[in-house]
This record gives sequence, structure tokens and C-alpha cells, in this order.
Amino acid sequence: MPNKIQISASILSSDFTHLADEIKKIEDSGADMVHVDVMDGHFVPPITIGSVIVKAIRPLTKLPIDAHLMVLYPWSQIDDFIRAGADIISIHAECYGELRPPCKGPGQFPKEVDHVNSELMRQDIKKIHAAGRKAYVVLNPGTPCCIGGLLNEIDGVLVMSVNPGFANQKFMPEVLPKLRELRKQFSGSIMVDGGVKEDTALLIVDAGADILVSASYFFGSKDPRAVIKYLKSLSKDNKK
Ligand code: DX5
Ligand code: ZN
Repeated sequence: MPNKIQISASILSSDFTHLADEIKKIEDSGADMVHVDVMDGHFVPPITIGSVIVKAIRPLTKLPIDAHLMVLYPWSQIDDFIRAGADIISIHAECYGELRPPCKGPGQFPKEVDHVNSELMRQDIKKIHAAGRKAYVVLNPGTPCCIGGLLNEIDGVLVMSVNPGFANQKFMPEVLPKLRELRKQFSGSIMVDGGVKEDTALLIVDAGADILVSASYFFGSKDPRAVIKYLKSLSKDNKK
């Protein structure tokens, strides 16, 4: 069971006018990965950044780049993110199943499904693996763990602990039972994204996560090194 905590710092809360400095801040702080929140204005309301930013920051760091694709049609983006140099590509389960009626239409969020088309998802997982990159599947808070048949084909699961779209939202504790259940069935990485703060991180780690994403807690701090040190201290190895 993995229990050493790694941190993926999300540039969503960084100062985009000084992106190279912000990447250096991530490296110097001791964080383990750079999380890139890609939003298309359809899967989630905002539009953020895309593969051009991954390409731009790729030469600046040796840290793995973790691309979280909040886009309606991930299959049309995967090749670009591979070419741009992303190491982890995270695709949302909600893009591969029938959306629940309340969130079917454009402009209706959050997107949620009860089942996925495993074959469609498998094609994209294989494409990511064929390029030597890691494939993660993302579950929105309202989507159950409906990817049982794929768990032994993926490197990790990204459990959203806020409805995606924005940084600095409040952690949703209702995802903790799903996280605990998933940890019982899955020995790969479990990344948790959304509302990771001083007071929520321990709950998340205790429920079985081994990678924590942080945007506002990390970039909002005057001492990002201390943030990383604290989050890493939650590793099970370090507990009495
Ligand atoms: C939310 C994004 C998250 C977000 C996290 O849609 O996927 O990665 O940046 O922000 P914080 O850490 O501030 O909750
Ligand atoms: Zn994210």
C-alpha cells in the first residue's frame, strides 16, 4: 500500500506573468510534480490553458508534468499533450459515459455519470501508455467509482474533492467514503484534487490518498516550502 505522500503543485493559482519563476518555486519547495489544469469552457465553465503551456514549461523543469484534462473531448487532445511532454495524463470518467440528465446539456455542471464505456476509455488509456506516459482516470465528486473494470489497466485515479473548475473551493468531505473504498480495491496511486489545506490534508491521507494536488494553499502561502514539508510529514511512514 503506497503511503509516502507526494505533492503536485497546480499552476492554476500561480502568477502567469512570471510562470518560469513559479515553476522554479515549485521545484525549490520540494514538490514532486507540476499540475496543469486544462479547462475548455464546456466540461467546466472556465477556459484556462492548454498543451502550449505544457510545451513552454517542459524545458524548465525535470519534475513530472501532470496534465488534468477538464475537457469534453479528451481523445482529441491526448496526442497534443503527449507531444508537449506531459508525463501523466488524467482523463475524466464523465467524458466516457452517459451524463446524468441534470448535467447533460451545455452549461450544466457539474458533469456526472454512473457508468463508463470501458472500451472507449481503454482506447485512450492504451494511447497514453503507448507513448510511455502514465494514465490516470478522474472521478468528479458525484461520480461513483464506476471504473472497476479498468483499475488494473491504469496508473492512478484522481479523486476530485471539489466540483472542478476553480481553485480555492471548499473541500467536500462526502468524497472520503469513495476514497476509502477505492483504496481497498486499488494499490496504484490515488491523487486527490480540490480544497487540500492544512485542516483537510490529514483526512485525505488517512482515507488512502498518496498524491495531493494543491493550488491556492501552495501559491497563497508565504512559505511554500513549509507547506510541502507539512503535507509530506503526513506520510504514514512519518507517523508515530
Ligand atoms: C479544480 C482544479 C484543481 C484546483 C485546485 O478544478 O482541478 O486542480 O486548481 O485548487 P485548490 O488547491 O485551491 O483547491
Ligand atoms: Zn486539477
